[in-house]
Amino acid sequence: MKGEVFPELTEDVIERMKNAEPRLRELMTMAIGHLHDFVREAALTQDEWRSAIDFLTRAGQMCSDARQEFILLSDILGVSMLVDAINNEAGQGITDSTVLGPFYAGPQRELAKGESILLREEGGEPLVVRGRVTSALGAPIAGAKLEVWQTATNQMYDVQDGGQPRGHLRATLRTDAGGEYEFRTVMPVSYPIPTDGPAGQLLEKLRRHPFRPAHVHFMISARGYRTLVTHLFIAGDTFLQSDAVFGVKPSLIVEPRRAQGFQTIAFDFGLVMRIGESPAAG
Ligand code: BEZ
Ligand code: FE
Repeated sequence: MKGEVFPELTEDVIERMKNAEPRLRELMTMAIGHLHDFVREAALTQDEWRSAIDFLTRAGQMCSDARQEFILLSDILGVSMLVDAINNEAGQGITDSTVLGPFYAGPQRELAKGESILLREEGGEPLVVRGRVTSALGAPIAGAKLEVWQTATNQMYDVQDGGQPRGHLRATLRTDAGGEYEFRTVMPVSYPIPTDGPAGQLLEKLRRHPFRPAHVHFMISARGYRTLVTHLFIAGDTFLQSDAVFGVKPSLIVEPRRAQGFQTIAFDFGLVMRIGESPAAG
């Protein structure tokens, strides 16, 4: 039976890690056990093993300061969302988290409440996004930092597209004394994740599409609270049920409404307090 091939090898590999630091030893013991069982269960051929090594080699070669192919692989295989689910609390008054993605580009220019995140004209429909940042109990959080980013209407982020000014469609905002934020943008569009590397080739071989439904990214931090990494998705998008990176959660789907002549999204974000830390103590 395949499950019994060479069990003493697995035991030997695990035994030789006995002096490692406990958490590493625990993780590697599980990883080796599952990996060896996978090889046995699949009865992996030498050709298959070689093409797996070649695939990982090409993924590594694709990586640079501007590109992380392994994160992309983790995203399309659902691992990123699993790590996210294990590490982020969900519950009453707490906004769901989702993937960070590879296009967060660090600190950006700070905007005053109500300003636009555009650095040039876009063809898309103007959109206002506003709401409050609160504690899980609904208490407004003043001075919370919101970092936001999204693609242009050509389906690309500024960092992917030499034609866009750097910092276009991304910005940093702060909530006011009442915990309120507001910015202007354009309606986001659905777009394909990068397909020019091994992750894209894998998607094609698996006969999967590379699209993500239209969304705006948020990273929200405030003293005494856990940083929230999330998106708002636009209702009605074709790809909401089949996001290439499994990032959609129903609570994050919003329906823009027309208000004062603009499409408007109103959304309140609820943050989890950091254990052992009061908001004032920082
Ligand atoms: C993004 O939404 O920016 C993204 C997330 C995961 C993979 C690729 C892109
Ligand atoms: Fe995105």
